[in-house]
Amino acid sequence: MANLKRSWNEIAPHYGRRYRISTATVHYGPLSPGDDKLRLLGDISGLGALDLGCGGGQNAIALSRMGAHVTAVDFSVRQIEEARLLAEKNDADIKFHVADIDQLPALKSDSFDLVISVCVIAFIRNERAVFNEAFRLLKPGGRLFLSDMHPLQYILDEKRRGVEFSSAYPFEPIRMRWRWEFGNDSRGGPVEAGFEHYVRSVPHYCNALIDSGFTIARILEPKPTSRSPHRGFSEEIMREYPYIARHLPITFIIGARKGRKT
Ligand SMILES: C[S@@+](CC[C@H](N)C(=O)[O-])C[C@H]1O[C@@H](n2cnc3c(N)ncnc32)[C@H](O)[C@@H]1O
Repeated sequence: MANLKRSWNEIAPHYGRRYRISTATVHYGPLSPGDDKLRLLGDISGLGALDLGCGGGQNAIALSRMGAHVTAVDFSVRQIEEARLLAEKNDADIKFHVADIDQLPALKSDSFDLVISVCVIAFIRNERAVFNEAFRLLKPGGRLFLSDMHPLQYILDEKRRGVEFSSAYPFEPIRMRWRWEFGNDSRGGPVEAGFEHYVRSVPHYCNALIDSGFTIARILEPKPTSRSPHRGFSEEIMREYPYIARHLPITFIIGARKGRKT
C-alpha cells in the first residue's frame, strides 16, 4: 500500500505550483463552477466552518473571506505549511490542524455549522469513518458539502480516435494505484510519488452518508466550465481530454444535512 501521507508531503510544494487554485471563492474541483456561481453555501458569515483535507488552504481562505470562522485539517505537514503561508499572505485567520480526518479527537462534537471536503474523499480508504466524524462534529442542522472527481473520469479514456472504456463501472469501489510526476521547478524536482485512490459511484457516497445519519439535500454534476477557480488542473484536462471536458461531468457535489430539513 502506498504511504499516502509521505507521498503528499513529497509533492506538496509542486502540487501548489502546478494547480493554481483561486482563493477568491470556494472551489469544488477542476472544471467545476465555484461557489460564486453555484451559490450552495449562502450567507456563512459568523458560522463555524471546517475544511477536511484542506491541502494548500485555498478553500479555507475563501471560507474565511466569506466571514466564516474556519478550522482546516490535513494529515500532510507540508500541505499545512503551504496553507499557513498562503493564509498569512491573505491575512486570513484560520486554525490549522495536522491530523487524519477519519479521527479528530481534538475537535469537539456538535461544534461546526458547516463542513466541506473537496477532492479528498477518493483518497480515503474508510470513507464511512470520515462521514461519521463529520456527523459528530456538525451541530444539529449543520451542513456538509462533499465533492470529488466524477467516477466517469476513471472509467473513460480519451485517445486520438475517440473515447474508450479504460475501466469498469464502480458497482463496487475500485482501488487504483498510480504515480504522480512533477517536473523540475525552482523548489526542486523532478518528484514522483506513489498514490492510491478509490473510484466509487455517487449513489455509493450518498448511501454511506445516509448510513452515517445525514439527510441528502442536493446532488450536482456541474457542467464543465473553463472558468473554474480550480486552475491548472482544469487546463490540463481540457488539453488532454477535450471531448470529455466539454461533454461529461468532471466533478460531483453532494450537499447533506445533520438531521431532517424542517
Ligand atoms: C487533492 S488534495 C485537495 C486539497 C483541497 N481540499 C483542495 O481542494 O484544494 C487532497 C488533500 O487531502 C489530504 N488528505 C488525504 N488523505 C487524508 C487523510 N486521511 N486525512 C487528512 N488529510 C488527507 C492530502 O494531504 C491533500 O492535501
